[in-house]
Amino acid sequence: MSRIKIFDTTLRDGEQSPGCSMNLKEKIEVARQLERLRVDVIEAGFAISSPGDFESVATIAKTVKDCTVASLARATEKDIDCAWEAVKEAADPRIHLFIATSPLHMEYKLRMTPEQVLERTAAMTAHAKKYCANIEFSAEDATRSDVDFLCRVVDLAIKNGATVINLPDTVGYTTPEEMRALIATVMGRVPDSDKVEFSVHCHNDLGMAVANSLAGVLGGARQIECTINGLGERAGNTALEEVVMAMRTRPDVFGEETTRIDTTQIARASRTVYTIIGQKAPINKPIVGRNAFLHESGIHQHGVLANKKTYEILTPEAVGIRTENLVLGKHSGRHAFATHLADLGFELTEEELNHVFAEFKALCDKKKDVSDEDIEALVTHSTTVAEEEAGGYRLDWFAVQTTNFTTATSTVSLKLGEEKFQAVSLGDGPIDAAFQAIDSIVKPVAHTFDIFRIDSTSQGKDTMGDVRIKLMAEGRTFSGHGLSTDIFEASILAYLSALNRLNAWVARQNREA
Ligand code: KIV
Ligand code: ZN
Repeated sequence: MSRIKIFDTTLRDGEQSPGCSMNLKEKIEVARQLERLRVDVIEAGFAISSPGDFESVATIAKTVKDCTVASLARATEKDIDCAWEAVKEAADPRIHLFIATSPLHMEYKLRMTPEQVLERTAAMTAHAKKYCANIEFSAEDATRSDVDFLCRVVDLAIKNGATVINLPDTVGYTTPEEMRALIATVMGRVPDSDKVEFSVHCHNDLGMAVANSLAGVLGGARQIECTINGLGERAGNTALEEVVMAMRTRPDVFGEETTRIDTTQIARASRTVYTIIGQKAPINKPIVGRNAFLHESGIHQHGVLANKKTYEILTPEAVGIRTENLVLGKHSGRHAFATHLADLGFELTEEELNHVFAEFKALCDKKKDVSDEDIEALVTHSTTVAEEEAGGYRLDWFAVQTTNFTTATSTVSLKLGEEKFQAVSLGDGPIDAAFQAIDSIVKPVAHTFDIFRIDSTSQGKDTMGDVRIKLMAEGRTFSGHGLSTDIFEASILAYLSALNRLNAWVARQNREA
């Protein structure tokens, strides 16, 4: 079987789902990891949907070198022009235009007749082709479309310059057999199908997105559209890690070396995305869940000890999960620490390394053994701290008083440069009280909490509290991260870092106004 391209849409279909919004910095971090993972195409966003989306697509287009960068566009001139403006500086730009082809969508959503959809397909594909050689055309809701009509649409898209034809299962309705037949039928009927690539894009409403995508490949598709951790609208999209590892594990079905993915980057990609959206993998999530490679029952353990292959069809190492967790402590030197960071896949500048090493030493005074999870949390956190030191409020000290029979009180002292500010507040618990005290000092613009999540970095009661906060203000999100063996401190640090980012953005807006 020839190569299967992996088209990642975490930053578009994934990001547009509730609770998964990312800011520019986070999107760039995801794009960099997708490049390390070696996906073929990054769909960086839907450029016309907001100025923020345009900015992130354009920035990713300029940043990424080793992947095609695509922007989504409806089949209108305005959308296509905007998509092109956003991707034009990419090393390999792609415009991805779509129009719905099912009777339901044409009548009720587009309010267009089938003839109008045919005309629009031809005209807008040709319009996009004036800008860009690499054009993907998607027939939205293809799996609920009339197949004869779908073939006419696809024929016109190819005739007018589409190089990739995507047949999405937009509502997660189809079955593997149907998907395989749909791809094979359309490819069989439409002239010049062999001159373009066919693609599948499946949603997971009935839990069949991965199976449907693989069936599409068996039907002749050569591109799979998917997202890290299966993020996406409603029940999500095809999970990249699952579909890639299925093909890698079954060369007898899909052939050798089907994708160019560096599978050892999968675990890191999954953690990066979960961390940004403030979630953790369900423990039994295939490939990346905590239990995915654990063998608990006696019978299984016995078999695995005799021969791993009895119950293990793929190894944790293949997806970048380290099984030997080297524990560092207060006697570990800077050199050993730096080498270990490099083994974990982190590339830090000297300055960043100094920062993380100082945090690591401080942690060693509070915690005997520092695990890989702790170190990873420190590295992610250190970039936030560096930003704060560049000018925002910093925590000086705090005190909380809480019992289960009185109202909690918190006192917070913050520093801005060399100036100090103190405030005291009551609240529904010590964290609420501390946040109210902070608000009375910082006086931020109105915002809501999109995410407030307290986790632990590792197992054991001396673990660190790992707090993620995402504030929503003026249609944007501002994230903050706090890390400490004290969860009150971690929460205060996370809130402060989100507020500092919000303040910095408001100040920029005011300067530009
Ligand atoms: O699900 C879908 O149909 C889509 C298209 C826009 C490709 O996301
Ligand atoms: Zn979709």
